[in-house]
Amino acid sequence: MKKHTFPKGFLWGGATAANQIEGGFFEGNKGLNIADVLPGGKERLDILQTPGFDFEIDREKYSYPNHEAIDFYHRYKEDIALFAEMGFKVFRMSIAWTRIFPTGTELEANEEGLAFYDRVFDELHKYGIEPVVTISHYEMPLTLVKEYGGWRSREVVTFFERYVNAIFNRYQNKVKYWMTFNEINSGFIMPIQGLGFSIQKEEDKYQATFQAYHHQFVASAMAVKACHKIIPDAQIGCMILYAPVYPYDSNPQNVMFALQEERLFNYFCADVQVRGEYPAFIQRYFEEHNIDLDMHENDLDIIKEGTVDYIGFSYYMSRTEKRDKTKLEESQGNLIGGVKNPFLRASDWGWEIDPEGLRISLNRLYDRYQVPLFVVENGLGAYDKVEEDGSINDDYRIDFLGSHIKAIGEAIKDGVQLIGYTSWGCIDLVSASSGEFSKRYGYIYVDKHDDGSGTLERKKKKSFYWYKEVIATNGEAL
Ligand code: BG6
Repeated sequence: MKKHTFPKGFLWGGATAANQIEGGFFEGNKGLNIADVLPGGKERLDILQTPGFDFEIDREKYSYPNHEAIDFYHRYKEDIALFAEMGFKVFRMSIAWTRIFPTGTELEANEEGLAFYDRVFDELHKYGIEPVVTISHYEMPLTLVKEYGGWRSREVVTFFERYVNAIFNRYQNKVKYWMTFNEINSGFIMPIQGLGFSIQKEEDKYQATFQAYHHQFVASAMAVKACHKIIPDAQIGCMILYAPVYPYDSNPQNVMFALQEERLFNYFCADVQVRGEYPAFIQRYFEEHNIDLDMHENDLDIIKEGTVDYIGFSYYMSRTEKRDKTKLEESQGNLIGGVKNPFLRASDWGWEIDPEGLRISLNRLYDRYQVPLFVVENGLGAYDKVEEDGSINDDYRIDFLGSHIKAIGEAIKDGVQLIGYTSWGCIDLVSASSGEFSKRYGYIYVDKHDDGSGTLERKKKKSFYWYKEVIATNGEAL
């Protein structure tokens, strides 16, 4: 790496989400949320992708790994000390809405929940680590799902507003980086986690999805406005799942198809949240899918006034598209489809590994929006082996992360303005899509397994020492 590629003050750190690490699912008056009813194992992905899920717990049939997760609720001090040892400047985490408003509908916030995050933020600040907080990461209160139909309902906007006001007021001196909805665009594929409902068999999925999106856009814009008012020195971003779409070949039909997929999946939400307007291309899509949004009179003004300060995004892989996919092998991957890219190899979970795609992503996003970017998720889910001497030699993870961070360095040299980098799952956690513990991302190993066994003991992997060096040298050790 050329000297000083990464700017002074670049925010190095790691990322997590409340429901994937905390556990303590019934402690401190917490209410049930979506993640609490999602089973572990391969069944989870089927449930997430099949219409008609009933959001009930069935302990005879399934296990529920998020209930205990890695017990960050009780072990946060030990974990934060390890993050500090690596030299983290920031720690991305989320607040569980259900710790603050257990059903989502209360008028007063739950003091025990507020106090828990006070303790976490104080512990982070003790080491000079800034929290980067996602307000809603795949886990709205179950009451809002069951009684209101999730983000289909306009009333949820009001409940969300109450929630964000409570946390902005309480943490105004402790949190300066915020994001509204995690991977907001993932709701297209997994509405259960993103939009808080399962498409019903008789339901028009397009109308329901875009109406829910409209409510989230209004809610997000209201949150941005409230944040700017209550914490004027804070920055608040949107958060999208970004996987650049490549055409399979130079056939103009495929190039156009890739462009359409890129705009709809990657840009639609960010266009609204960053530019404050529904983009021109979506009008045609609405007409072709008979979508007629129910909007309140001043919704578009709110959206215009509540544009975000930066774009946070996750990057795991690129996606290759062809209009006619017959005869081609489909690729698996972070919720998104596409066909196999012959130039790329894939992880154990079929996610194609493409560091150059991260440079492409950063350039495309910056070219389009000209606002600061923040890579808030990136990482390799892999099986790790604990050797007899207790060491975990995760060179594959070091290769993955090193090549991606180098690609970020190139993008910075290309002129992209980047706030920081928080790799996903800096400590092993429950996988969002499969509920597995064995899909590990961390620099810190957690002794917890898919069958529920394990001591929860933490161990440093080889990548722990590697990342520590990367941070200490501001990326120059690469
Ligand atoms: C992102 C999510 O999609 O990818 C995280 O924001 C998730 O919550 C991460 O954990 C990795 O995906 P998975 O399915 O491997 O956990």
